[in-house]
Amino acid sequence: MTPLRVAVVISGRGSNLRALHEQARPNTYEIVGVVSNKAEAPGLRYATAQGLATRVVDHRQYATAALFDAELGRTLDTFKPDIIALAGFLRILTTDFVTRYAGRLINIHPSLLPAFPGLNTHERALASGATEHGATVHWVTHILDSGPIIAQARLHVDAKEDAAHLGQRVLALEHRLYPQVLTEIAQGRIPWGSLVTNTAAPIDP
Ligand code: GRF
Repeated sequence: MTPLRVAVVISGRGSNLRALHEQARPNTYEIVGVVSNKAEAPGLRYATAQGLATRVVDHRQYATAALFDAELGRTLDTFKPDIIALAGFLRILTTDFVTRYAGRLINIHPSLLPAFPGLNTHERALASGATEHGATVHWVTHILDSGPIIAQARLHVDAKEDAAHLGQRVLALEHRLYPQVLTEIAQGRIPWGSLVTNTAAPIDP
């Protein structure tokens, strides 16, 4: 079986990139390229050290989001990816970009969407008194953190823990959830290629 070709887009630390790379298998998916909008992203150093193909598309070099996204798309296309996986990518993509890759563009978000889209999810979960929290992998649409949910992983919140501790626990879930979703896409268990609105069977990693 030809592995699913996955390009990963990052801005920073890259711990999800690492998890995706470590859990890639010849019969499921392979990381064919990594793109960062920040040359200094630690995740890019990891990718280079692992011999992965890397590119930098620095958003500051482009006058508009549309020009940046056009170059990002051109760069990604050189890898001929089946799926583009956002992993800590801190830019909001234009509707044109998102439409062009509909059904092939996924993101991981550190909350149980639709709860807590946006930033500071762990602080907000604790402040709200939520008893459950977790991570979501979803298709990317033009509405931030609101595309169809593919899979979620959840945990019970300890009211005594702080945001950093909770964040670490959620991150550990992310590192299992994201590779599992890509594995399931590669195995044909999650449909892709056009924007699907189903919610696939819940994954409990
Ligand atoms: C993760 O929490 C992910 O859910 C969010 O950004 C963070 C990226 O972390 N989108 P890392 O760069 O993968 O370590």
